[in-house]
Amino acid sequence: MASLDLDRVLKISDDCEGFPTDLFCVPKHYEGCVSNVLITHGTIQDRIEKLARDIFYDFYNQGKEPLHAICVLKGGYKFFSDLLDKVNGLNSNHNDGSVPISVDFIRLKSYENTESSGEVNIIGLDNLDCLQGKNVLIVEDIIDTGKTMNKLLNTINKYNPKSVKVACLLRKRTPLSSGYIPDYVGFEIPDKFVVGYALDYNEYFRDLLHICVISKQGIDKFKV
Ligand code: IMP
Repeated sequence: MASLDLDRVLKISDDCEGFPTDLFCVPKHYEGCVSNVLITHGTIQDRIEKLARDIFYDFYNQGKEPLHAICVLKGGYKFFSDLLDKVNGLNSNHNDGSVPISVDFIRLKSYENTESSGEVNIIGLDNLDCLQGKNVLIVEDIIDTGKTMNKLLNTINKYNPKSVKVACLLRKRTPLSSGYIPDYVGFEIPDKFVVGYALDYNEYFRDLLHICVISKQGIDKFKV
């Protein structure tokens, strides 16, 4: 499996204005709360179809070894579900072999004392020893600075998995990036706060179909 060539990632440019929200179905409770639709639900699905194909054939061509997919909740749940549905579709349509898939779900909690050790507390997986010897695929919604993922990988690698790959739907272009590059990226996006398709702002907007840029009104309305 070659490492990801960032030049070949689907980039949404900084000056992209997206689409007007009134041309798409946005729930009434979010009216005015997003400034544009950056990635439509349909485009998300089309891109995930290709990511699923890339992932499937990487593992298929590498001996069809079982894959242990880990969903990082909550933001990754839609991406995880749609991605695995599509990988499973490819599995069902191949007569000469398939890639067995098992799943786990985790949440991450960073504590002050883990900041210094560079680790993250993983909630939901009682026994991380179960990762030993497995081909792990971490499925995450968005990489911003990359600090969370660096810490997660640091922790997971301690349990001796056979391999670890990361699939993220979005990678933000930010000057604060740690330089971390995932193995599979859906879209590279501008340095803006996006919501929808399970990405939240204070737990709101997960129920929005499209990925949108939050507006000032949205930030103020759902401030805690
Ligand atoms: P990082 O450690 O800076 O890469 O941050 C990663 C986490 O921050 C993600 O898993 C999200 O939970 C959250 N995050 C960063 N940017 C956004 C955004 O634009 N929308 C929603 N959540 C975000």
